[in-house]
Amino acid sequence: MGSLTVRNLPESVKKRLRLRAAASGRSMEEEVRLLLAEGAADAPAKAARMPEPAGRPEAAQTAPAARRVLLVIAGGIAAYKSLDLIRRLRERGIAVRVVMTRAAQEFVTPMSVGAIAGEKPFIELFDQHSEFDVGHIRLARDNDLIVVAPATADIMARMANGHADDLATAVLLATNQRVLLAPAMNPAMWANKATQRNLKILRADGVLTAGPNAGEMAESGEAGLGRMAEPLEIVAAIEKHFDAGAETQNKPLAGKHVLITAGPTHEPIDPVRYIANRSSGKQGYAIARAAADLGASVTLISGPVTLPDPPGVKTVRVESARDMLKATEQALPADAAIFAAAVADWRTADAGEQKLKKDGSGPPQLALVENPDILATVSKLKSKRPTLVVGFAAETEKVIEHAKAKLKRKGCDWIVANDVSAEGGAMGGDDNAVHIISAAGVESWPSQSKDGVARQLVARIATELDGASK
Ligand code: CTP
Repeated sequence: MGSLTVRNLPESVKKRLRLRAAASGRSMEEEVRLLLAEGAADAPAKAARMPEPAGRPEAAQTAPAARRVLLVIAGGIAAYKSLDLIRRLRERGIAVRVVMTRAAQEFVTPMSVGAIAGEKPFIELFDQHSEFDVGHIRLARDNDLIVVAPATADIMARMANGHADDLATAVLLATNQRVLLAPAMNPAMWANKATQRNLKILRADGVLTAGPNAGEMAESGEAGLGRMAEPLEIVAAIEKHFDAGAETQNKPLAGKHVLITAGPTHEPIDPVRYIANRSSGKQGYAIARAAADLGASVTLISGPVTLPDPPGVKTVRVESARDMLKATEQALPADAAIFAAAVADWRTADAGEQKLKKDGSGPPQLALVENPDILATVSKLKSKRPTLVVGFAAETEKVIEHAKAKLKRKGCDWIVANDVSAEGGAMGGDDNAVHIISAAGVESWPSQSKDGVARQLVARIATELDGASK
């Protein structure tokens, strides 16, 4: 229906339709469908008099399709199963547009494909009508997934080598969407080294596959791996891909490694005594949980705290600042590193191996030396520096002024500054009021739970990493 209807419209209407489509990001045909659906909703009595084409579920006809699949039918005997595939997809409210290769037309006719798809299939690369109407570039991109079923050995070879000498391969080369292949061929062709080599290339290019299955071939006496997956199996693979896509949308840190330090460090004085601070680790642990919730793979390097390991997070327990530095270096590379630990600035010059005893000569003299600065060390790395390095500043006065100086001195990208004075209550408490200091300026967030700070911070990090990868 779509392309024929659009093509026959007056130029002025087509122009308005084109503008509407450009503004909404939909195709012109979808706009027509939407307008028709709206019209039908306005005039139910009128719509009721119009007979439904046989065998087409109402939902697929009127509701704007949530997902769009471009089905490429290549020339193989399994092409007859593609008709059922179209029907199964449309039953699920998935809009299907079809491209047929020349060879495919030897197995199924464009007429039967068009009748089931509800729209004429696209066939020619240099077809004037199609090019002005949709165009092969729009065809390649106006969909959520391209499915090649059946995917013959020939089309796989041409895809692997980047051919674009017919409409199907031109669309497959021009697309920015994922491609799913349902291979179908004789078992000897499937097993052939050339096909397996092409498959390897295509998989490395991110192409997905469904099947092939083992079984009887159309040729008598031939059996083995090469039968096209059944339409419902292909539908399942398509739905799995869409579900995974929806999942990733809610998981903007999927595929990213986030490293977090948390808690205090303990610097030994002797085997039973140590220098420490009041950090509870709550803020760092909350950040680790929030990053994992957004799909990141998280390494949490934690000083001694009483908190349980956050689920789904790799937690490395350490004692001293030097252990924490070592564990941090071992956990690199990372996309983002957040240094929430309250690392002890000093340790004793030489911790005694035996417990210090009172010997009547007065208190011992403890010589202190400075600990390595983990944040500054990582910020200054040349090759393994994370894309985003975030430090914390625990201040008891002049919070912003000191934090700005810390940003410069340590060489990190952001400083999350908080007031750790007794009145501030961040140290050990459940709430935190922070200021985000970066080259862009200062942003002050209202006091909220440490979980709230963590979620807001991690969402900001996800946006930053997303921007950095473009
Ligand atoms: N930090 C670190 N290693 C250290 C000391 C601090 O990685 N040896 C990190 C902290 O995890 C935090 C930031 O540096 O992200 C700032 O910590 P803070 O204790 O506020 O600053 P200091 O470096 O101790 O500076 P100052 O003594 O001036 O407060």
